[in-house]
Order: sequence, then structure tokens, then C-alpha cells
Amino acid sequence: MSTVLPATGITEVLYTARAMRRLRPDPVPVEVLAELVEAATMAPTASYRQNWRFVVVNDPGVIDQLGQIHARIFEFARPLASATLPEGVFRSVAHLGTKLGEAPALVVVGGTEAPDGRAGIQAFRTWYAGILPAVQNLILAARARGLGTTLTTLLLEGAHDEVRDLLGIPEDVVLVAVLPVGYPSGHFGRPPRLPVSEVGFLNHYGTPLPDPPKSDS
Ligand SMILES: Cc1cc2nc3c(=O)[nH]c(=O)nc-3n(C[C@H](O)[C@H](O)[C@H](O)COP(=O)(O)O)c2cc1C
Repeated sequence: MSTVLPATGITEVLYTARAMRRLRPDPVPVEVLAELVEAATMAPTASYRQNWRFVVVNDPGVIDQLGQIHARIFEFARPLASATLPEGVFRSVAHLGTKLGEAPALVVVGGTEAPDGRAGIQAFRTWYAGILPAVQNLILAARARGLGTTLTTLLLEGAHDEVRDLLGIPEDVVLVAVLPVGYPSGHFGRPPRLPVSEVGFLNHYGTPLPDPPKSDS
């Protein structure tokens, strides 16, 4: 299954929503970007807080500024990425590393009410787990519309507060991911992944979960 077209079925969406880092410059209508954000908000939300926040950036000047920061951070990360990533993945990551500023749109995702380190109901893992399903929904909604995207964190790992200030995001919002969004110049396809029997277990860790019957997804 390999196509640049919108996907029609949930299985195709799930199995072909891989990282798409090479994007065409064609603009993505703001209504479509709003649809992606709406789809994101259909995700589960811890304690019904709906504390996710999304900043859609389609101003080329702002995207360029963010792209310059990203390229700066990528140069720091380049040696480690080059040494640790498989060759093809590194080439793709390096492309986005220097070209994030050319994406037609970015969606910056964060959340309010981030915990301050105290244990309990506000624990950090629950807070994070409350934002990430929305990010994945956004990825899948993009794929369903024939749009490519990639979950990225490098920009935030290197320049969280700089990004927050540049976008006028208040200090109580902690940023989690940046998703460049655009029509892909490559093709969607099933990503290479370890088999279920290597990563899944039945009843007891170490007892492999049998691989499912082969599908053509
Ligand atoms: C938490 C997380 C952070 C990521 N950060 C980045 C990033 O900063 N830059 C990037 O190019 N890809 C990033 N990725 C995407 C992965 O590199 C990508 O999923 C991996 O290369 C597999 O690609 P595939 O889905 O096309 O097989 C991130 C993925 C996750 C889950």
C-alpha cells in the first residue's frame, strides 16, 4: 500500500501514517488545519481536563524563524543522530533538520496544568499521557486527508522557552510536540516495524504474543 492520496479506511490510515518529512510547499487551507485540531480534541482526556492547547502556525515568516532555531539545534544533535540512526532515517531526519522552516504549516501542541513534580493525581506521566493521544489523532487525521506530518520534539528539547516566547504562549503552557504539516512529496507506506511476537507478550513478559495472520495492510 503506497499512495499520496487520502486514505479511506481506518486500517489504511493506521498502517500508513508514517513520518513524512519531505513536504511540498503548497499551502494547507486553515480550515483543514482546524479540522486536524478538532480531530485531535476527540482523543481521550485525563480527568476530562481538555487541557491540550494547539498553536497552528501558517505565517511563513514565523515558520522560517522556528526553522532557523530548529536548524541550529539540529547541528548540535547531528553527530549523535548520525551515529545512532539507521542511514535512511538519518537522511530523512537531517532533511527536516534543516528544512522545517519550509513546511507550509506547523502545529505546536502543549498543555496547561503541567505538574510541578509532586506525586499524585497531577503526576507527570498522566499529564503527558493526556496530551499525546491528541497528537496521534492529529497525525491520523492528517493522513486521512492525504497530508503528511511527523511528531517532532527536537525543537522543544533544545529551545522550549524560545518557541513559547516567539509564539506568545503563556508560561503555564508546557509544549510537547511540533508537527510540520503539508502535502507530501514522498509516498505514504507501511513503516518497517518489529513483529508483534518480538514486542508483545501473552500473560507473562517473555512469552511471545503470536503474530497476527499476514495482512496486506
Ligand atoms: C516522541 C517522539 C519524538 C520524535 N521526535 C522527532 C524529531 O524531533 N525529529 C524527527 O524528524 N522525527 C522525530 N520523531 C519521529 C521518529 O523519528 C519516527 O517515528 C521514526 O523515524 C520512524 O519513522 P516511520 O514512522 O516513518 O517508520 C519522533 C517520534 C517520537 C515518537
